[in-house]
Amino acid sequence: MTTIGEVESVRQAALDHLWMHNADWTTMAEEGGPPIMVSGEGVRVKDVEGNVWIDAHGGYASVNAGYGHTAIADAMLDQMQKLTYFPQGTTTAPLIRLVEKLGELAPDNLERVWPVSGGSEANETAVKIARAYHKRRGDSGRYKVISRRGSYHGATGGVMWMGASSGLSDFEPAMPGMLYAPQPNFYRCEFGSDSPSECAERSARAVEDLILLHNPDTVAAFIGEPVASGLEPPSKEYWQMVREICDRYGVPLIADEVVTGFGRTGKMFAMEHFGIIPDIMTVAKGITSSYLPLAATIAGTHIADAFAGEDNIFRQALTFGGHPVTAAVALKNIEIIEHSNLVENSECMGAYFLEQLLDLKEKHPSVGDVRGIGLLLGMELVSDRQRKTPFDESLQVGKRLTEKMRERGIIMRFNAGKVTLGPPLCITADDINEIVSALDSAISELESELSVV
Ligand SMILES: Cc1ncc(COP(=O)(O)O)c(C=O)c1O
Repeated sequence: MTTIGEVESVRQAALDHLWMHNADWTTMAEEGGPPIMVSGEGVRVKDVEGNVWIDAHGGYASVNAGYGHTAIADAMLDQMQKLTYFPQGTTTAPLIRLVEKLGELAPDNLERVWPVSGGSEANETAVKIARAYHKRRGDSGRYKVISRRGSYHGATGGVMWMGASSGLSDFEPAMPGMLYAPQPNFYRCEFGSDSPSECAERSARAVEDLILLHNPDTVAAFIGEPVASGLEPPSKEYWQMVREICDRYGVPLIADEVVTGFGRTGKMFAMEHFGIIPDIMTVAKGITSSYLPLAATIAGTHIADAFAGEDNIFRQALTFGGHPVTAAVALKNIEIIEHSNLVENSECMGAYFLEQLLDLKEKHPSVGDVRGIGLLLGMELVSDRQRKTPFDESLQVGKRLTEKMRERGIIMRFNAGKVTLGPPLCITADDINEIVSALDSAISELESELSVV
């Protein structure tokens, strides 16, 4: 694609045929889109017109190692040239090495790995394992799943009903047995708590109340992200209490580490911040840094062992689960994350980024709250800081800020009133300064347009 004519023909084909995430083709056409990317290096991507952008959200907070690692491409090509799939009832060495590696990295007895293609599938699998586990033990009334309001666990048939996001009415009826607990988010605590730890304790106690209300014999699992995207990390007591509550009532705890895994929060897995071990953990995104689609559900041996024995197997098969080329990519990607100290960089650059965003909060009345851990950060915009009032939707604050940031060469994400930032873990202080300075001037412009003082 070198001539203007070629670029325009590709763009028109996209408008005619592509059904993109979070976009519609009529608006895109009006705005001259979609942007078409052609290459990437570190935290930057280049589009078909030659413009270079910082990807402040790292794809979907998923390009952990950064763009442009030729070593990953080499690992992919090498496996492709050897073997691209496997006959039924067989497996391959890259996959075996990968599940062994995941067993080493994951805590305690999380050793049995079910490979799938994406985070939604990993969570669907986790819930199916939890339900089937109870059946194997003769506890067959347990089918309900507790998730937290404001969480996100995926977009497919079952998991889209976990987390209670808005915009699901198109897809009703909801999956039966979905129960919702409060999110331990102090800024908007459902209990109006006076401190983060009070909010954490009351939110955890609400999980117990929900289990008792519904009868523990009906509850199959609790699922939560250690730190929900764009929200603050809960106080330590939250996960410790939830762990104890789950143990007390025989409810397996599923940690959704789809975003938080592989260094995103400054630890290899985010539950390490809280010192608890889940019964099942799901991983995706950073496992391949999005070079190819791969995810996994990792079960503790106390859960997985219920499925040993010929008549006892977990009945699920997914054609692309365990693909050898994706496994080779994951292995190389994890090697890069480890050898380039990207987990440590996430911790240290994350702390620097947070500091800079807190400075923006001092300067800008529309910044209601800034939070995050490692390189999973969020900034909530409000029209009245005192009352924490969200901007009226008709003002299209998210769209306007996103456009202003694009004018400044930064691609970012705005969702549910929040700027969410999840850049590649190889980000430097200079890159962060560039993003923060763009945010500073874009927010100033927005505030003057909206007369926020
Ligand atoms: C916490 C969490 N879980 C699950 C998912 C779903 O993953 P996928 O989009 O790979 O299906 C996402 C996606 O953003 C996520 O953020």
